[in-house]
Amino acid sequence: MTAITDRDGLAGAEAGFLAATPGFEETAVLDDLRATEYARLDARGDVYLDYTGGSLYAASQVEEHHRMLREGVYGNPHSVNPTSSAASALVDRARAAVLRAFDAPEDEYVCIFTPNATGALKLVGEGYPWRPRDRFLATFDNHNSVNGIREFARRGGASTAYVPVEAPDLRVAESTLREHLESGAECAHHLFAYPAQSNFSGVKHPLEWIVLAHEHGWDVMLDCAAFAPTSRLDLSVFKPDFVSVSFYKMFGYPTGLGALIARRRTIERLERPWFSGGTVVAANVQGDLVVPHSGHAQFEDGTVDYLGIPAVEIGLRHIERIGIDTISRRVEGLGSWLLAELQQLRHSDGSPATCLYGPPAWDRRGGTIAFNFLHPDGRVVDERYVDVVAAQHDISIRTGCFCNPGAGEIAFSLTKEMLTEHEFAVGMILDDYIEEVGLPSGGAIRVSLGIATNFADVYRFMAFAEEFRDVADVPDGLPPRLGC
Ligand SMILES: Cc1ncc(COP(=O)(O)O)c(C=O)c1O
Repeated sequence: MTAITDRDGLAGAEAGFLAATPGFEETAVLDDLRATEYARLDARGDVYLDYTGGSLYAASQVEEHHRMLREGVYGNPHSVNPTSSAASALVDRARAAVLRAFDAPEDEYVCIFTPNATGALKLVGEGYPWRPRDRFLATFDNHNSVNGIREFARRGGASTAYVPVEAPDLRVAESTLREHLESGAECAHHLFAYPAQSNFSGVKHPLEWIVLAHEHGWDVMLDCAAFAPTSRLDLSVFKPDFVSVSFYKMFGYPTGLGALIARRRTIERLERPWFSGGTVVAANVQGDLVVPHSGHAQFEDGTVDYLGIPAVEIGLRHIERIGIDTISRRVEGLGSWLLAELQQLRHSDGSPATCLYGPPAWDRRGGTIAFNFLHPDGRVVDERYVDVVAAQHDISIRTGCFCNPGAGEIAFSLTKEMLTEHEFAVGMILDDYIEEVGLPSGGAIRVSLGIATNFADVYRFMAFAEEFRDVADVPDGLPPRLGC
């Protein structure tokens, strides 16, 4: 077993890594920031590897935001008084900064602030003009916040369909996608939703699908929640109709804010199910009048988070100073190393100690790696035990199904029959259902890299992974699983 604090081992491994990873030294600015902006990680001894769950904020982001709050006076932007105007100006600046960050032309796109990516997806799902003969198409590989759109579609009488991903890489076969897109020809409205990057496998699905789907008459919802934190999205080149992001996944702070970046011409077709304060030019009671705002204002219910939104501009500036391409390169270098090391991990008898879900090499993928540890006899190590050992080493990772059941169903070879034969009966807990379906564990382990990851993090993770070599069994009494 490699000791997790083995500094000599770390220095030697890092030298080998640097020699084998040309160009990585160009990301050294992130080592400097790790020692300053993210110093709390090493001060606490934390190994943070859950960036797809949420990124980390730089200390200066919080300081700048707090300075703004301490020094300014800001009122509700729904007025025109001086403090209200001050808040409106900051919100408008942040809105423009979001569009700039994604190279979205202002005459083509609007930025609608939402509580998170889920809020953005819900705005589209509930407002899309679903009618009988319309269709909602999604890839198996999607977050539940995209899957949930099917409920709105069905309520409007539309049909729903899924394009499968294929094991072991968990990518979509383009010929299958084409068949699905062609089959929508007779629909009046049809929406295709997919993630630019999988929050399960790290697969980057092609942005070229946007063009393909448009050629077949589909509107496109591109979920960028897992993609945007470490990849460049250029909306002057690829033009999805809707883009969802969560800002805490991009730069850690503030939580509670995301955006729907939407094409002006497509949001005109959305039908809001209600109106509220902030979304109307005029409304009255006796005359039943409602005159909705146009653009972003029609979609931002009530008072926006006018003190939090300026922190979005601060976060975007932080990313811009580093450069998103530098972050991408960093994650690619460290992720490639970790991906290879994990797959090489063997028990003493030579049997594999891990099982990877998703692309085995760094090809069209991001820094999200899903896998399970295996016992020497090939059984999956209970992910709850992995959580227990990780916590002992101050390692933060994610375990479970990551709210992405479709990718998991393919990764774990679950068929429709297996899933429809068994019901989640009243009184059952998740563990009962997992046993009923015959799953070997509650999902997988997810390690994800981001802005502040350094070589020591992935090295310490591999030292921890070594502890699973030759583990024949896990202890009893692991906590019950409460959700996936
Ligand atoms: C790909 C993807 N889409 C959507 C979401 C939902 O994001 P939020 O929980 O911030 O609304 C997530 C969250 O992990 C995600 O990874």
